[in-house]
Amino acid sequence: MKLWGGRFESGSSEIFERFSGSLDFDRRLIDADIRGSQAFARALERAGIVTAGERETIVTAFDRIRGEAASPSFYEGATDEDVHTLVIRKLQERAGAVAGKIHTGRSRNEQVSLDMRLWLREECDRARALLCGLMGALLDLAEAYPGALIPGYTHMRRAQAVLWPHYLLAYFEMFARDWERIGEARRRANVLPLGSGALAGSGFPFDREAMARDLGFDAITRNSMDVSGDRDFALDFLYAASVAMLHLSRLAEDWILYSSEEFGWLELADGVTSGSSLMPQKKNPDSLELIRGKAGRVMGSLTSLMVTMKGLPMTYNRDMQEDKVPLFEAADQLAGSLEMARVVVASVKLNPARPALAAEESWVVATDLAEALARAGTPFHQAHQLAGRFVLESVRSGRKPADWTAEEMQRFAPEFTADFARLLDPKEGMKSREIVGGTGPEAVSAALAEARERLTEMTI
Ligand code: ARG
Repeated sequence: MKLWGGRFESGSSEIFERFSGSLDFDRRLIDADIRGSQAFARALERAGIVTAGERETIVTAFDRIRGEAASPSFYEGATDEDVHTLVIRKLQERAGAVAGKIHTGRSRNEQVSLDMRLWLREECDRARALLCGLMGALLDLAEAYPGALIPGYTHMRRAQAVLWPHYLLAYFEMFARDWERIGEARRRANVLPLGSGALAGSGFPFDREAMARDLGFDAITRNSMDVSGDRDFALDFLYAASVAMLHLSRLAEDWILYSSEEFGWLELADGVTSGSSLMPQKKNPDSLELIRGKAGRVMGSLTSLMVTMKGLPMTYNRDMQEDKVPLFEAADQLAGSLEMARVVVASVKLNPARPALAAEESWVVATDLAEALARAGTPFHQAHQLAGRFVLESVRSGRKPADWTAEEMQRFAPEFTADFARLLDPKEGMKSREIVGGTGPEAVSAALAEARERLTEMTI
């Protein structure tokens, strides 16, 4: 079936139909399309275009169609141009002539926008729930090793000691921002486009506010031309999804390293790793590598729609049909990656001795020494110089922090008074970082409790 044709003398070519059809992918919108059309039938009744009886016939037929659409045979032999056309053909088959009124004052340009917004709302909810699951798993893991210490890195060089929960809370913050960003994308999508017509506004007096209430939208769009040419709401989601994938990818990268034999900090569960067909000893972090890999695909989806939209003249252009595959793809890869990450986090084991040793064997305490000197009155610049020379001397003589005694330190520099030796233990210096947001043990345990609290609010 076609929703147009009067102006044509001959039919479409077979190649054009195959090339331009979108049913293969936009059938994913069928639930949204039916929901939207049922609400539109009610709007037609309110506008006096269909009777209450006709509206009832349409709505009931759509309920049946929705049920039938669950079985794959529903689509067998369907040659309709897109999901909107298919749904109207089915309505004609089920409800007869009254189906001819369902498209009164409505265009597929606004309908596709409506369907995508309805679909996207639910995808945002799904992604946010999965983010909450992942954040919960991160907090569980932090609570499992409250006192574990790791060297924090800058430039991939050991920098300063931090608590393991502090490190995990950094990811909690990133995912909490993703939760907000996807909520913002949802808010922007949750605006009713119906009533815009093809581009100039509908020629029938629909109560748009009533339609918005019916479909659970927070607001109505303000310009029909904008609606017809707008995919910002999809781009907002794709951006939010890309940033979430970026965070997942960095976590994946960290843990691929931390679970390597070189680091030996983490043991990934058997259930999320795989072996080699050749090398019997291998236990590969494939789940994490795939998360990192899929991040590229999601960012590709964002780029794809950006580039599709950037040169389009106002308003709707068929190019815009290419929005769906990247949007679906990104939503699926994001959901899959969030689910996978939660399982990895929930099943990982930390071997706290290894990062503790990495901290002790390096000079992560150098900053603690310099700051303690500054606290005792040495100007920081000189304190930095002195601590630097102390590290250089240690490197030259092959000494680790623990190899120094208080007396030797004092002999090296009288500024290193007796209590400085205490700071050679990386656990000690952390105690001076009790600032909000810092890695001091009290600050971290407060941050952990606060994160738990925030997470309960997010799930609501
Ligand atoms: N399948 C089309 C899309 O996804 C629906 C809108 C069709 N509008 C049109 N003027 N051909 O963009």
